[in-house]
Amino acid sequence: VIFSEPLETLWQRRFGQDPPAGIPEAVVPFLRHRSVRKFLPEPIDPAVHEALIAAATSASTSSNLQLYSVVSVQDPERRARIAELCANQEQVKSCAWFVAWFADHQRLRHAAALVGEECNGLDYTEFMLMATIDVALAAERMACAAEALGLGVCYIGALRNNPPGVAELLKAPAGAVGLFGMCLGWPDPSASPAIKPRMSLDSIWHQEAFPDEASIGDYDARMTEFYQEQGMSSSASWSQKSGRRVDEHHLSGREVLREWLDKNQMGTR
Ligand SMILES: Cc1cc2nc3c(=O)[nH]c(=O)nc-3n(C[C@H](O)[C@H](O)[C@H](O)COP(=O)(O)O)c2cc1C
Repeated sequence: VIFSEPLETLWQRRFGQDPPAGIPEAVVPFLRHRSVRKFLPEPIDPAVHEALIAAATSASTSSNLQLYSVVSVQDPERRARIAELCANQEQVKSCAWFVAWFADHQRLRHAAALVGEECNGLDYTEFMLMATIDVALAAERMACAAEALGLGVCYIGALRNNPPGVAELLKAPAGAVGLFGMCLGWPDPSASPAIKPRMSLDSIWHQEAFPDEASIGDYDARMTEFYQEQGMSSSASWSQKSGRRVDEHHLSGREVLREWLDKNQMGTR
């Protein structure tokens, strides 16, 4: 395990403050999360692959429907191809283990069809949301288990840049849609990725009800400091960058998702 900062350091980096009293030690490892994009070449033991899948599928899952699948991609040529589909991100190529997470309605459709059930509710938006939630819960449980072992992870949303390409490469059946990938591997200690600041708890946590007006508190100032520390030259604030990130010109191919979901009979009603 290469990341071992104490609570005081973590809370300062995350929230720009000293930690409050009484934060339990058992929670501290969760505060050490950072995305890892540089990995050592060492593989991950196959037994650990199984352990991580088991941890993931042990997550809560809506009505026990388990509306997800996960595809690992290890063959070097196929890994190079999936990296290409994911905006050519280096960590997709170099990580020890790459998995692609899918919202998956087709396995339930299949099982239910065998016993004469039609599943005609599955094309409602509700069940696309349900599958999406379940995928995220399983994936994040894998991430937590991996980090507990000293592995690093990086989610790859760019898996949605080219849905037909991903479906073709991984032979995804109709009714299974790729949501994101995940890179896993042993962190390269020479890279040492930083703890990234988050908004203060009271920007996120509303006790009893939402406030009259949303607030990001001092987050722009703390992120500007972070960008400077990281040697990022842009003078734009987090609010500016993030506002631009979600303008309609930054969809990177994902503007076809509505159409793709329609084609897969997911979320259409
Ligand atoms: C669903 C999802 C998709 C993401 N996609 C990418 C990606 O394609 N490439 C990447 O480098 N990081 C990706 N990230 C990582 C985020 O950029 C990162 O979690 C965020 O900037 C916060 O940084 P931290 O994880 O180091 O705290 C993704 C994260 C999530 C949750």
